[in-house]
Amino acid sequence: MLYDVLVNLGERSYGIDVGAGVLDRLGGLCGEVGLKGKVLVITDENVGEHYAHITRKSLETAGFTTSLATLPAGEQTKCGDQVFKLYSRCIEAGLDRNSFIVALGGGVVGDLVGYVAATYLRGIPFVQVPTSLLAMVDSSVGGKTGINLPEGKNLVGAFYQPKLVLADLESLGTLANREYRAGLAEVIKYGIIYDAPFFQMLEDNIEDLLNAGNTELLAKVVGRCCEIKAAVVAQDEREGGLRAILNFGHTVGHAVEKVAGYGQVIHGEGVSIGSVFAARASVELTGLSQVDCIRIENIFQAIGLPVNAPDYNWSDLRTALTVDKKTVDGRPKFVLASKIGRVDIGHEISEKRMEQIWSGMG
Ligand code: GLY
Repeated sequence: MLYDVLVNLGERSYGIDVGAGVLDRLGGLCGEVGLKGKVLVITDENVGEHYAHITRKSLETAGFTTSLATLPAGEQTKCGDQVFKLYSRCIEAGLDRNSFIVALGGGVVGDLVGYVAATYLRGIPFVQVPTSLLAMVDSSVGGKTGINLPEGKNLVGAFYQPKLVLADLESLGTLANREYRAGLAEVIKYGIIYDAPFFQMLEDNIEDLLNAGNTELLAKVVGRCCEIKAAVVAQDEREGGLRAILNFGHTVGHAVEKVAGYGQVIHGEGVSIGSVFAARASVELTGLSQVDCIRIENIFQAIGLPVNAPDYNWSDLRTALTVDKKTVDGRPKFVLASKIGRVDIGHEISEKRMEQIWSGMG
């Protein structure tokens, strides 16, 4: 089954294809969108072991000349050193402006490779082949690319749209269970910010959702997340306003990731904790009902994600909030909900209330 979504951005529009066992269609799809010449497939050692071969074979069968670069797996790969190493690999592979790059992997690979594609020769085309749930529903769609600095995540980057996104749901079968569950945090987020019936459907199908092999359900779920993301990005590509709703749960989530040390608490786990924080703040500030707040806490808990954070003290977390790139004049901004399916952006919370909400999560 193939689930098609269009990201409608004028001349930068592109399609997202979601399906089970579709990776071997990559070469044909690249040809259909007008890509040509040489292609450098960039992946990491975990993903490459399973999927680099079929990716290259599909591209070569369609007439492309391929090279492969394999990176170490993990968040620490998303750094400036790797960007420069990849520029050298692009040159070795003979990539010119008629060539393109395929990002084969999760969010780290997609963000890093997208940034390399955005900047090598002032920009060459690239294709996203997300293999983690997080990358399929969020990071591969919408053109945010970038790397981390020691001071914080994603502090350097560019908006740069891919030419095509192809998500093969079968790749979720080789994803670590912890990563899969963490990806579900972003799935739940779409229900909270945009689509109450979708949230309800997720609540009703928790058991099935926890099975990464249930590709029929996942095609619908991933497809719906991509539709929502595409709709938001089409209205606000460069995050002038609306796009920031996608950051629900991320203000505190990013801070927890940073305080814990990157990789200790993974992104979706941070988003889960941050979403509970935002839901509790929403009860006081934007009229979210207690019932909806509890539904939000319960669904993250049912997925097996953390909803408390006893190990991190407020003063460390507050310092981490100050370096978040969404913070203005030291004041963190929050996306808050008035009900499930409706949020708005730009809320400030008093220092005292932030600390109280945090203490309640210990
Ligand atoms: N991950 C949030 C965004 O793409 O805007």
